[in-house]
Amino acid sequence: MSVKEAMETRRSIRKYAQEPIPREDIEEMLRLASLAPSAWNIQPWRFIVVMDPEKKRELHLAANRHPQVKSAPVVIILTSDMEDAIAHIEECIHPDMPEEGKQWLKETIPKVFGAQSAEQRGQWGVAQSNIVLGYLLIAIRSLGYDSSPMYGYNPERIRQLFDLPSHVQIPAIIAIGKRAEEGHSHHRHPLHRIVRYV
Ligand SMILES: Cc1cc2nc3c(=O)[nH]c(=O)nc-3n(C[C@H](O)[C@H](O)[C@H](O)COP(=O)(O)O)c2cc1C
Repeated sequence: MSVKEAMETRRSIRKYAQEPIPREDIEEMLRLASLAPSAWNIQPWRFIVVMDPEKKRELHLAANRHPQVKSAPVVIILTSDMEDAIAHIEECIHPDMPEEGKQWLKETIPKVFGAQSAEQRGQWGVAQSNIVLGYLLIAIRSLGYDSSPMYGYNPERIRQLFDLPSHVQIPAIIAIGKRAEEGHSHHRHPLHRIVRYV
């Protein structure tokens, strides 16, 4: 499926076919999503793939009993961990960069983020992770699957359920599977409402 077709046929699906997703398809969705760009190439996103029925049952309760969490064979929790990213900043630096540049980044990035509060860093990481969310939704569709992104959950409860430290942000959770309903057609602003050419 082309990127254009994936974008045009993606829609939020809240009822899924009761069939598992092969592990290699999940890996491919995540591999494609993780090609997303981020400032400083910092890639603060981390994914928790929830497949276990008992964990999914608990997540359903933590996620305002959204029916799609119960129905989907897989739910991904998108998290953002800036503290982990900064603690391993060398992982983000391109190996082809000259040594001098590498050294500058190793010193500068922790300094820039060290001047911020953990909360500010957390919000910055969420902004980056929203880019991977967009990529993920299109990647899922391009592989012939459907999804439903959600904000409606209790983040504290999810942190408890999945042993996440308090600084870890949860930008979204995403139900994934094959559609068992058609969903709604796109309802979007016309371009003249949102675009200004100058
Ligand atoms: C970040 C994000 C959070 C969302 N949160 C919820 C949610 O908590 N519950 C829900 O039913 N839909 C949620 N949605 C789905 C939106 O309502 C939906 O994307 C929008 O109405 C456009 O419809 P479409 O996805 O079918 O094109 C969310 C979408 C996004 C991108």
